[in-house]
Amino acid sequence: MKADTSGRCVAVVGAQWGDEGKGKIIDVLSEEATLVARYQGGANAGHTVRVDGDEFILHLIPSGVLYEDVRCLLGNGVVVDPWTLLEERDALEERGVAMDGRLGVSARAHLVLPYHQLLDGAQEENRGSDRIGTTGRGIGPAYRDKAGRTGLRVADLADEDRCRRVVEGRVDDANTLLEKAGVEERADADEILERLDEIRDEILGLATDTGQEIRRELDRAAGRVLLEGAQGSLLDIDHGTYPYVTSSTTTAAGAAAGVGIGPRVIDEVVGVVKAYTTRVGNGPLPTELEGEAEERLRELGSEFGATTGRPRRVGWFDGGVVDYAAGVNGLTALAVTKLDVLDEFDEIRVGDGYELDGEPVESFPARADDLDRVDPVYETWEGWDGSTAGCTGWRALPEGARRYLKRLEEIADTPIRYVSVGAARSDFVRVGG
Ligand code: GDP
Ligand code: IMO
Ligand code: MG
Repeated sequence: MKADTSGRCVAVVGAQWGDEGKGKIIDVLSEEATLVARYQGGANAGHTVRVDGDEFILHLIPSGVLYEDVRCLLGNGVVVDPWTLLEERDALEERGVAMDGRLGVSARAHLVLPYHQLLDGAQEENRGSDRIGTTGRGIGPAYRDKAGRTGLRVADLADEDRCRRVVEGRVDDANTLLEKAGVEERADADEILERLDEIRDEILGLATDTGQEIRRELDRAAGRVLLEGAQGSLLDIDHGTYPYVTSSTTTAAGAAAGVGIGPRVIDEVVGVVKAYTTRVGNGPLPTELEGEAEERLRELGSEFGATTGRPRRVGWFDGGVVDYAAGVNGLTALAVTKLDVLDEFDEIRVGDGYELDGEPVESFPARADDLDRVDPVYETWEGWDGSTAGCTGWRALPEGARRYLKRLEEIADTPIRYVSVGAARSDFVRVGG
């Protein structure tokens, strides 16, 4: 990036439970990028970009797409619902975003097929009160096929026999599982193969080697690459609040593997955090609010899911989470979003670490049950006078807001480089820039 980041290859990751505002940050940083790539997840993501009153919610296509000279890639680590991808591309074109020749998808990316979604729904049903609260987009079953070596990849579309063998085999297995789960719906191999036939050429036309493209881009002096994380660090399959997680490596280390470059190619890792905390779906949320304060924060922050419309659970900023995420990702900078949402509060709380059974917690609990039981150690802050909304410089922020940010920086032991104070592209502060 230009003057404000020294890195030419920057990974942007969520450092909480997703929906931190990654789409907004990627959109702003894309002004100086030449290529933006998603590296994991699938259409479970909902990344919102707002420009001049127009809102775009992106599920698969990277959030750099609104700049028409930016190449947009889906890496090998992404699980791609090919119909959703084409629909999203077409919808963007209909809204006047020229897509010609600048969208690519890794030939190695796995496909999400209709039986994955059916299985996702059935498995959630069967989990009963232990349900994860997935987005229903077939993500877990698609990654299970990938790890189980029974998946179908973009490149396989060129081999019709292989497509038939894989799809028929998976449909048989899926239907057995669906029957066992007491679900009436069945997957239909012929129908899936017919639908794949319809899009085969178009998807193969997008197929590329994302690692090679990115390396070549960085070989050019002008090349600037952003790697766009989806979900958040606490939803990471290894480092998140297992089993209440998604099925991919959301953290920065997944960025290299998920596009096909070496880890040392990544110069900077920006962690996006809300000025408070949200979570959609089940699992522990130590600083969760209840009652009136909960309703107020949800309403002021418009905290409803971009993919499923579900109300998001809300809580105060959890330093235990962000400090952990800073370590797991090796964050080099923070982007704090939605600071404006706290403008209205007379009192703000910040969690700095936890106690469990009266003892300080020294390392982030591995068990979701333990995290569920911790007591955050809170600091109580007075709200600030004045409004952060629409500020575009550090000095324009109210003094109290600046002190709050400085404290977050201290807790996470990571410098804040960007602050977002509204959904629009222009509501943005570059710290020290
Ligand atoms: P993502 O999944 O991390 O890209 O985040 P989402 O798009 O799911 O959720 C973030 C929501 O907050 C979206 O509705 C954004 O338009 C909105 N948003 C992003 N940054 C800000 C901000 O600084 N202030 C306010 N008020 N809204 C923001
Ligand atoms: P973005 O990229 C917030 C959550 C789901 C569920 C869990 C597993 O917009 O930040 P999955 O469908 O992935 O198997 O669901 O993960 N989840 C998200 N929460 N933001 C997201 O994406 C999410 N993607 C998945 O709610 O708890
Ligand atoms: Mg989202």
